[in-house]
Amino acid sequence: MNQKIIIVGDTHGNFEIIEEIFQKENASGEVVAILHAGDIGVYDENSIGVLDEATGKYSGRMSQKEIKNILRHNDPIGEFLPYLKGEKKFPVPVYNIAGNHEDFDLYDDLLEGRIKVENFIPLKQNQVHTIDFGKQKLKIAGLGKIYPRSETSRFGRQHISEDEYSRSRKTLSSNKVDIFLLHEPPYLAKQNESSKWMSFGSPRITELIRDARPSKVFIGHMHFEYSYSFGQSELFGLGYGVVGRYAVIDSKLEVKYSALEETTIKIHPIRVGNEAYYLNEIRKKKVQEQRLEEKRIRHEMKKSPYDMNWLKTIFPIQIKSKEDKKNYAPLFLEISRMFFSKKSEEEIIQFAKKCIEKSLIIQGE
Ligand SMILES: [Fe+2]
Ligand SMILES: [Fe+2]
Repeated sequence: MNQKIIIVGDTHGNFEIIEEIFQKENASGEVVAILHAGDIGVYDENSIGVLDEATGKYSGRMSQKEIKNILRHNDPIGEFLPYLKGEKKFPVPVYNIAGNHEDFDLYDDLLEGRIKVENFIPLKQNQVHTIDFGKQKLKIAGLGKIYPRSETSRFGRQHISEDEYSRSRKTLSSNKVDIFLLHEPPYLAKQNESSKWMSFGSPRITELIRDARPSKVFIGHMHFEYSYSFGQSELFGLGYGVVGRYAVIDSKLEVKYSALEETTIKIHPIRVGNEAYYLNEIRKKKVQEQRLEEKRIRHEMKKSPYDMNWLKTIFPIQIKSKEDKKNYAPLFLEISRMFFSKKSEEEIIQFAKKCIEKSLIIQGE
């Protein structure tokens, strides 16, 4: 029997579409599993709730912004209920990662097993599942959610935490994963209508794939198809599941894009994102880490007995301007560090003396 695996993403609450894709593919073979790359849209009666006409607000547990987004797109909100109630069952295991549009309360209940839905398997970052596929055993894993668009964005439940990222990294480095599911793409670029290359995705994901080298990577979120060889990994961007777009892996592990309706699927040309931007992102991350460290030390310094006035009583230094203060700041950080690592006052004074003498000599030159 011709075995296959369906990979779909971004069905946004359309569980009937997942079923239709299964029926279509299973008619010409044996579908053994469905992999879903995020934005599946698991909702129950309390995800959206009811509209309060007076305030214009919904009573559901999801944010008003997210509820309005679902309603604006006409995403169905009741199609997961029969599965939740056990009235319906997925025909084969559905392995899923979270996207950025989910009811995260319900999703976490499913992820942690507090609520169980037969054949629905949310992937944890530290788990590898094995699918028996003909004579092969395919190892699959995934990292859901996305990165915030900018460094200053507020961290939300749809964002990848450092903990999730490092767990995923660990899993990938200790297992040779055949199929890896992502919602956030690596840092790539696509040509827009006016032939300009527009970047999308995250350099952090690029690093993850570059180091861990899973064989095949299927990525949701962008709603258009693209494929790209990246080091030892093959990347496949998934089309919009809402309109019935998906991909199939056959028994020879070849990947083909398909759709429920007869249509020509354009595979968008792709290249890696701008290298200069990528390096800049890494630099920004380092600067941010440094700032956090300085902030932490400054906080500690407030508890330290050594300040500018103390320094003036010990050494004949002039602190007149902001510039002077800035110049002495690294010295204070170091003095403060010494204080907290329980160095004696004598040692601290010796150290400060040396630094100031050194800087005087430099100034004198
Ligand atoms: Fe989506
Ligand atoms: Fe998304």
